[in-house]
Amino acid sequence: MKIKKYTLKDIKKLIIVGKLAANTLLMIYEYIKIGLKTDEVNSICQKYIETKLKCSSATIGYKCYQHATCISKNKICCHGIPSYKKKIKTNDILNIDVTIIKNGYYADTSYMYFVECNYSIFLYNNKLNNISCLYNAMSFVCECTKFSEIGALIQNFAKYHGFSVVKELCGHGIGTAFHLQPLVLNYNGYKTKDVHLKKGMCVTIEPILIQRGTKIKNLNDGWTITTKSKSHSAQWEHTLIINKKGVIITTIRKNEKL
Ligand code: MF3
Ligand code: CO
Ligand code: CO
Repeated sequence: MKIKKYTLKDIKKLIIVGKLAANTLLMIYEYIKIGLKTDEVNSICQKYIETKLKCSSATIGYKCYQHATCISKNKICCHGIPSYKKKIKTNDILNIDVTIIKNGYYADTSYMYFVECNYSIFLYNNKLNNISCLYNAMSFVCECTKFSEIGALIQNFAKYHGFSVVKELCGHGIGTAFHLQPLVLNYNGYKTKDVHLKKGMCVTIEPILIQRGTKIKNLNDGWTITTKSKSHSAQWEHTLIINKKGVIITTIRKNEKL
């Protein structure tokens, strides 16, 4: 398996685009309001990416996908299509995923929003949304780690907190293209293709946690993936570069404390 390694010159550009993707998620935060439709959220993001950041969206035109974001609510695990019919409601949990390109370099990141959740729902969602699952995996990213170990960390963490991971979806290599080798599995599923993380590699980690059951359903719009049990699902995603000292999280947000 050929995994691309990036030079210092590339890494500088990956850091620039990572910051712009992170800023997109920060920008949209204040717009998330009850009653807003998910395609309105998408339009604000698209305008910001194209006009303010002077970037392009990697998802528009990707395998015929037509939007600048994926917006996945509640039981939707990922690839939720922004819609003029879907209004944001109290207690919704919302994942917004953006991938942007600047000068040929890519960054992919997603974030969960709790929409005015009442306290008990907040506690439940807060646990489900355990961003620590991603942080825990990221904290082991260095040259000596194997991809199987990252997968095992994610799966064990989710299990310990009473959730399952979606095995059918995974992180990926990224950099000068959207989806590159390797697959970054959210469980230890490598048999022959396991390798060590190496200096210069750029990958995403993007575990999807679900509350009940492990099964997912593909809707016939060709994109949306939901939990079969209809229970809630949550996902967080960052783009990372492995370097000598450990890791650079290119999509880290300004207010994010690790
Ligand atoms: N951003 C997703 C990922 O993390 C991929 C979305 S593809 C799309 O890999 F076409 F649905 F946008
Ligand atoms: Co993504
Ligand atoms: Co991704």
